[in-house]
Amino acid sequence: MKNSIEFSEKEGGFYWGNIYWGKNKKVAEFDAKKFKEFINQSPEEIKQACYKEGRLNHIIRAEHFDLSFLETICETARAARKVAKLEDKSIKKLLSSKSVLNFFAQPSQRTFLSFSLAEAHLGMRREEVRDIRTSSFSKGESEKDSLRTISSYFDALVCRNPSDIYDLFAVWVMKNSDREIPVINAGSGKREHPTQGILDYYTVRESFKGELEGRTFVYVGDCARGRTVHSLAKIMALHKGTEAYFIAPEELQIDEETEKYIVERGTKVFKETKPLKELINLADVVYMTRIQDEHGGEGEYNQDYVFSLEMLELMKEGSILMHPMPKRDEIDPRIDYLKKHPKVMYWRQQRNGMWARVALLAYVFGVDEQIRKHYQRMKV
Ligand code: MLT
Repeated sequence: MKNSIEFSEKEGGFYWGNIYWGKNKKVAEFDAKKFKEFINQSPEEIKQACYKEGRLNHIIRAEHFDLSFLETICETARAARKVAKLEDKSIKKLLSSKSVLNFFAQPSQRTFLSFSLAEAHLGMRREEVRDIRTSSFSKGESEKDSLRTISSYFDALVCRNPSDIYDLFAVWVMKNSDREIPVINAGSGKREHPTQGILDYYTVRESFKGELEGRTFVYVGDCARGRTVHSLAKIMALHKGTEAYFIAPEELQIDEETEKYIVERGTKVFKETKPLKELINLADVVYMTRIQDEHGGEGEYNQDYVFSLEMLELMKEGSILMHPMPKRDEIDPRIDYLKKHPKVMYWRQQRNGMWARVALLAYVFGVDEQIRKHYQRMKV
């Protein structure tokens, strides 16, 4: 990366990396250069910066996960679900002294609501900022100062932002503050949605009873800009012998960087433009996505990639259909009216999201083991 900062100037303020650095160019340059030093470190150094006392502290990238972390989260999610159903109170006490800010600068329903409910399950005090105009940017305050303010009030930050590097930015700000609160990336730009990756993994793991080696994933739709595809594909590359088919028109194909990452870890990659029907019988998991037209281009979905009702029958026995949602026309609407169809997983996938986020918050604050132990005691 070059060392000069090429700011774009809007309404008298300076932007770089889709982040607002304030109204004064000298100050903006000074701060942005420091941030650049942070992101110019090696991926391993950045990963280490996200750890604290041997545990992942900032949950920002799927490439920071390993199988033991994922197993811990999945086991905790399963235990939390059971404990909360049987005796809600014991979970509620766990994080009642902690507070969290849900800072969502992009639209969100599922991620926002499931985080909010997960926090409530653990008894956390929670606030939200969903309209960026209510922050002090309009007074010329940089996003750096605004985030640092958040770190002096809250014990954790859950953030969603259109910038591809906002997660790194938030970690950098926290590391420079006197209170390094955990950052949880609830979706940054086009590349990462690690908590969706975790809940998708939890769903897959539950569906296949933990037998995940050699599974074939068929990702369909906007593989270029679907951040959930990127996160899940990286996570699944941790398992031996997995195959990933990316079915999309050329312009919406998976990017080379992600392809290289997962190939290097042993996943076989197939980039396909064939109609979905021709490949459907290969899949253990079909992962549909919508066209991410908020990033530009046409929103028209290619009919060859629509999942039709008939395809459920063409899928292998035991295979599943997933979607991170929101969906539009990429899944046959008749499928929504099938009650409890064993292959149709996207509604259950949403419900799993809340429990995966309970587990994640519990992990971040070090109370995950208490939940698992409590569940063990309840079973005997
Ligand atoms: C996301 O935030 O990436 C969503 O959950 C998936 C989408 O918007 O298509």
